[in-house]
Parts: sequence; C-alpha cells; structure tokens
Amino acid sequence: MHRQRILFAILGIHITGALSDSELDGAWQKWMGLNGKTYPNRVSEFTHRQTWERNYWRVLEHNSRHNSTFRMELNFLADQTFERASIASAKLTEDTLRFQPESDIAVSFNDILLPDSWDWRTKGAVTPVNEQGQFGDSQAYAAGECVESFSFIKTRDLVVGSSAEMHDCCTATGFATKTVFDCVHNIGGLCTDRDYPSSYEQCYNDSCTPVAKVSGGQKLQTGDEEAMKSAVYLTPVLAFVDGSLTSFQLYKEGIYSDPYCSSSTVNHALQVVGYGSLNGMDYWICRNSWGLYWGMNGYITIARNRRNMCGIASFSSYPV
Ligand SMILES: *[C@@H]1O[C@H](CO)[C@@H](O)[C@H](O)[C@H]1NC(C)=O
Ligand SMILES: *[C@@H]1O[C@H](CO)[C@@H](O)[C@H](O)[C@H]1NC(C)=O
Repeated sequence: MHRQRILFAILGIHITGALSDSELDGAWQKWMGLNGKTYPNRVSEFTHRQTWERNYWRVLEHNSRHNSTFRMELNFLADQTFERASIASAKLTEDTLRFQPESDIAVSFNDILLPDSWDWRTKGAVTPVNEQGQFGDSQAYAAGECVESFSFIKTRDLVVGSSAEMHDCCTATGFATKTVFDCVHNIGGLCTDRDYPSSYEQCYNDSCTPVAKVSGGQKLQTGDEEAMKSAVYLTPVLAFVDGSLTSFQLYKEGIYSDPYCSSSTVNHALQVVGYGSLNGMDYWICRNSWGLYWGMNGYITIARNRRNMCGIASFSSYPV
C-alpha cells in the first residue's frame, strides 16, 4: 500500500505534489538525524535541503525503473551538489596528466586461463575501506591500497600503508614518474599509517621505515578491459572513473552504468579488486574511499565490457 502511494507520488509530483510538505519535512528531519547533519544557519539548511529534495525525487524515480541494474539511495552525500567530485576533479586533471599513459605500453599477458570471477577480498589481500575526508585525494588512497595489496600478495603480510605519505610524496607534490607506483619505488616504499599518520604537505619519507614495497608500475592500454582483467588477476589495479554523476554519488547497490558517464574525463580514483558476472552482465568490483556508509559497504560494482564504462579502463595501472 505504502509503496503504491509513493509511486503515485512520483507520477503525480509535477502536477499535484502528492507527497505533502509535512511528509517531506519528516523525511528530511529523519535523514538529517540518521546522517548526523547540522547546518550553521537557516540559509545553509535551506540550500542543502533544496539539493536533498531534488535527490529525493531522483532516487525515487530511479529506483522505480524496472530496467536499471543498480539502485540509488539518499546517502550522506544527498544534500551536496558535486562538491566531492569536483575537489577530486581539480586535483586529478593535474595528476592524470602527470601519469598519462604513453603509447608504448602494450603489456602482453601470456595466455593464462583466467577464472570467470575473482575477488581479492576473499584472499585477505584488501585492507578496510578508507574515508578520504582528510585531504580528499582519492588517488592517494586507491594507489596506496594497491601497494598494500601487492605487498600482501608478495609477502603474505597485510599492512595499512600511509595514504598521507602517498599524498605528500607521490600524488600531491611528487616526482614526475611513469606511474604513481614508480614514485612509491623511488621513495623506498610506503610506511605504515601509524608511522606517517597525517599530511605535512611535503614529502617526509625519511621520517619512517617503509614496509610496503613495489619495484615500479605498469600502465594498461587505454580501454583494454581484457588486459585489465588479466592485471586484476595478478594484483588489484588503480583505475580512474568519472565519479561526478549523481547516480554515482548516490549509488547504493547493483551493477553501475550510466549512459551519461564519461569514459574520457575521469575525476575519481578507485581500487579494482576483482571482477565477475551476474545474469550475463560483467562487472568490476571496485573499492571507493568514501567510507563504509557509501555503496555496498564502501564498494561499487561497475559494468565491465560495456565500452569502458565511466572510463574504468582509461587510466589504469598496477604495481609490479
Ligand atoms: C529505462 O526506462 C526508462 C523509462 O522508465 C527509459 O527512459 C530508459 O531509456 C530505459 N533505459 C534502457 C537502458 O532501456
Ligand atoms: C626517501 O626518498 C628519497 C628520494 O627518492 C630516497 O633517496 C630515500 O632513500 C628515501 N628514504 C627511505 C627511508 O627509503
């Protein structure tokens, strides 16, 4: 019954505004409470509420579609415009230029017979989900996570590496190297999160002992999802996507794909930890750095072999 009323509300909203103001008020208050939101003043609350209301209808409309492969939700980002993505975007333009793929990067993976699905989480190769809040540098997190996983695969020792060191030394002010992993090699590896806990805004790699090491990095050919599959089977991969769409920010579960997602303008880094297929639809398993309350406990599955959805295979690389 309730569901039907909501559906009615979706259909009728533009004409009658079927959901009453007080019901919407109630939903807003409840959402604020659940997400611990407070605003400095009424103007600020009003602005955020307007965004939230737009997203409220958006989520309702999206989730009522029967042909979508994923669901959205009013998560903690529902009162924000594109702030989060644009912070990352401003940074990444610089970073992706610095770590731009060259043409001489064709890696040949010998004909290893790859399993149809793979998930590094089940091998104990993945550390807990991060929340990039501190400096909003998704690349520092995702690249650091790849170093942690790679180091685990080599040594069987899983350590939480310092994303602050990654930020200070390699992604914010670092050396111009072929990949971010070559930079990690140059600085001797990553120290633990505990030994290099926060950013100094300049590289202090000598202040601690590196524990997670790599010999360098390898780029993948732009758009080659088959090569990326092989690479993911070797070790988790650093990938960049267009994370700027509302559908991405308010993603809840399922296989994400959006026809408006760009495959050339990427602005957000993820760690690709596996792949699989569901009902004939292939996907990548990706770890985000927006905390546990985003997506599927911090993860998103993104459509695979759908013409490089969201640019997932546009700027990927992995440690060697
Ligand atoms: C899904 O359905 C919506 C209408 O509910 C339509 O606008 C959209 O084009 C459809 N998408 C696909 C992929 O079929
Ligand atoms: C820190 O980085 C510098 C510059 O690449 C390097 O020479 C040095 O060995 C690194 N320090 C440690 C402790 O590895």
